[in-house]
Formats: sequence, structure tokens, C-alpha cells
Amino acid sequence: MKIIRSIHALQKALDSQRRRNKQIGFVPTMGYFHDGHLSLMRKARKENDCVVVSIYVNPTQFGPKEDLKKYPRNRNRDVRLARAEKVDFLFCPSTKEMYPQGFGTYVTNEPIADILCGATRPGHFKGVATIVCKLFNIVGANVAYFGQKDYQQLCIIKQLIKDLNIRTRIKMCPIVREADGLAMSSRNTYLNADQRERAVVLSHALCVARTLIKSGERRPHVVINKMKRMLLFKVDRLDYIAVLNATDLSKVRSISGKMYIGIAAYIGKTRLIDNIVVQTK
Ligand code: PAJ
Repeated sequence: MKIIRSIHALQKALDSQRRRNKQIGFVPTMGYFHDGHLSLMRKARKENDCVVVSIYVNPTQFGPKEDLKKYPRNRNRDVRLARAEKVDFLFCPSTKEMYPQGFGTYVTNEPIADILCGATRPGHFKGVATIVCKLFNIVGANVAYFGQKDYQQLCIIKQLIKDLNIRTRIKMCPIVREADGLAMSSRNTYLNADQRERAVVLSHALCVARTLIKSGERRPHVVINKMKRMLLFKVDRLDYIAVLNATDLSKVRSISGKMYIGIAAYIGKTRLIDNIVVQTK
């Protein structure tokens, strides 16, 4: 595995792969790997000749009061884990490299960047769309792998690709969970023992919602209220519970087709998100 810090060096290396007709798979991350990240690398490894993983804690997607400075980092461990997954190129650029002086072009996305996580984290998806667009242009991968965990991010990236005619294809990978159901996240390390215990309520509430829908409930507010009652017992602040059309995150009057059910809630100061996609007949 080659660790590369400069854009130019990565592009040179990948040009050489392309000349040899190698198919390139790409996994963008902010590091501090857990099994969710590793599952994306494994899928990329299976499906491509060459695997590129990026680690970059992107400052433009963090709000002024968010956790950019304390976002967990462990570069040596990440290098070890990526090597074990047989990654070919680990791209670890600096902020000087990604946002040099004079940088001034941003990618914004309408209208789905302003709802759900975008409503609580203004500017977040502008930062995500901008860095992902830059990374796509740098890597020029055939396929890029993203987790369902960040479902709204995935919808935004799909739209970005379509709107800006980017030629990388996207694959969505399932959420990897802890044994009790908690969705893996780098931010889970912020939780103390009591908070960790309470955090499992997000996935429990989603399971209850799935069961309700599978048993025939079609009224979104009934599903939402049931989840709310469960969550309010355990979380410190509820950000949103959403039952939306899974394709475009639009509102629905009645549950039908492919539905996205998402939750964002604070446990202590840690903001956790989780979701499921339910197919009704
Ligand atoms: P990060 O939070 O590091 O996540 C990198 C990728 O791992 C994302 O596609 C995310 O959805 C996926 N992921 C996270 N937890 C997962 C889990 N439990 N199961 C499966 N996949 C999971 O998302 C970002 O970084 C950034 O916003 C980024 C796209 C890199 C842009 O900066």
C-alpha cells in the first residue's frame, strides 16, 4: 500500500493504472476506521483492480461550533487497517493541499441539502458536496462506495453526480452495526458507558417502526409518534424523526413504496444519526 499526500502524485499513479485498463474503486472517509469503513473497503477490493481510500477530516463540512478539532484521529491505526484490507493507495492530503490560498469555488445542492441534517447543520452539505466533487475529480474512479448510514449524504452525492455529469458510479453499502444494534460511527467514541447504553434506542425505535409498517400501518404520524415516545425516554435532545420517500426524500401523506425512516438525536453532546429503508408492497 502506498501512502500519498499530494494530489499530483496520486493522479500520476492513477493515470498509470488507467493506462493499464485497471478499474479503480474509491472509498472517501474522514478516518478513525471502524467496521463500517472496512466493509466499504472490502466491497471495493472485491469489485476492482485498484482500490483508493482517502482520509481527510474536511473542515468545510464542520460548523463553527462543531467537533472539527476534537474529531477522533488515529493515523497509525488507520494505516494498519487499510493495509490489512489490501488497499492500494491511501490518500491523506493536508488542508493546504485541498484548500490552497485563493480557493473559492463551492458546490451547493438543492433542495435536499436544507432538510434533515442540513437544517441543523447549515453549510454541512455544501462542504460535503465540495470535497466529494474535488475528490471525484482527483481520483477519477470508476466506482465510489458510500454507506447507507449517511443516507442524505448519499442522495446529495447521487444528485451531484447527475447534475455535474461526473462519470464515477456510486454504490450504497449497508449499515454495519454493533452487536446490540447501534450503528457504528467514529463519534461513538464520545459516549460514556451510560450514554452508550442509551444510544441503542435509535436502532430499537427504527426496528419498531419497521415492524409497524410491515404489519400494515400506513400513517406517517402514527409511526413517528411511536418512535418519539421511545426516544424521548432515552435521548437528551431529539433533532428529527422523518418518514420520507426514499428516492428523493420528499414528504408523503401515506406510507407506500420505498420509504426512508431516519432519526437524529443528541445523547449528551453527541449527535447520532441512524436510518432504515423499508419497502412496502
Ligand atoms: P466518514 O464519516 O468517515 O464516513 C465514510 C464512509 O463510511 C461514508 O460513506 C459513511 O456513510 C460510511 N459509514 C460510516 N459509518 C458506517 C456504518 N456503520 N456502516 C457502513 N458505512 C458506514 O462520510 C464521511 O466520512 C464524509 O462526509 C466524506 C464523504 C468522507 C466527505 O468528507
